[in-house]
Amino acid sequence: MSDGTGSFQVGVIIPAAGQSTRFGSDKLGQDLGGRPLLLRTVELFTRRDEVRCIVVAAPPDALEEFRSRYGAQLGFHGVRIVAGGIADRWESVRNALAAIDESCTHIAVHDAARPAASDALLARVFDAARVAPAVIPGEPVSATLKRISEESFAAAPDEEVADAILGTEGREATRGHRVTETIDRTRVVAVQTPQVFEASLLRRAYAQDNLGGATDDSMLVERLGEPVLVVSGEARNIKVTTQADLALVRAVLGHRAPEERPAHKRF
Ligand code: CTP
Ligand code: MG
Repeated sequence: MSDGTGSFQVGVIIPAAGQSTRFGSDKLGQDLGGRPLLLRTVELFTRRDEVRCIVVAAPPDALEEFRSRYGAQLGFHGVRIVAGGIADRWESVRNALAAIDESCTHIAVHDAARPAASDALLARVFDAARVAPAVIPGEPVSATLKRISEESFAAAPDEEVADAILGTEGREATRGHRVTETIDRTRVVAVQTPQVFEASLLRRAYAQDNLGGATDDSMLVERLGEPVLVVSGEARNIKVTTQADLALVRAVLGHRAPEERPAHKRF
């Protein structure tokens, strides 16, 4: 590895086929400093020397719309677009995997919804992946974690008393769930992407029979019984899930919302 990249060729999979249900509208098309969020995410990787190819998994039910919206800019970077899966992220990754160049020694999977990962994080994960077959970023969990009951309960069992104190609206607002357990957070980490794997290992993980229930890619590697290394993640690597996350990402990247920018600088 004289040039530091010779035997480390990374194919990148960007799952971007989700429905943005919790966000409420297409989160990947949101403006981030004048460019759609999806392109910001893709461009994290176009800047890296180790990256040999990038495949984006797009919503299968809106593929043509996706191509007309992003095709030109993605094509400029040599990015391939494949149809993802409607229901499950793993289906999107599996479809993209088939389009990754065979010559890639490693494969990185990164959520389209994480546009604020730093280049330092990418460098850290890629460096570790040169020596470990499966590497994921993770952050210690600082919150106290509790498991709660599935059903919700009224705060006051006696509705007449509750109504007298809070009124009917207050009664609804004070419904809650019961704590069933406090979860020990010792050595618990919240994991992020990019997750980087030896190409053959990830292909083997995705060739398993039952991929259901996998919420990230490393879980499928764990199912093979293969070790997964966790390196430091970072707080700024936010997954845009709700509108509040988008505001945080804009703050991290120093972008103003489009309505706060002069009209000629919006797209
Ligand atoms: N994703 C995907 N294919 C799916 C589901 C999710 O490619 N069938 C992608 C999303 O586009 C996103 C990433 O996986 O980049 C993480 O998923 P998430 O944050 O849950 O996004 P959505 O599924 O779009 O959001 P929601 O769950 O609120 O609908
Ligand atoms: Mg989802």
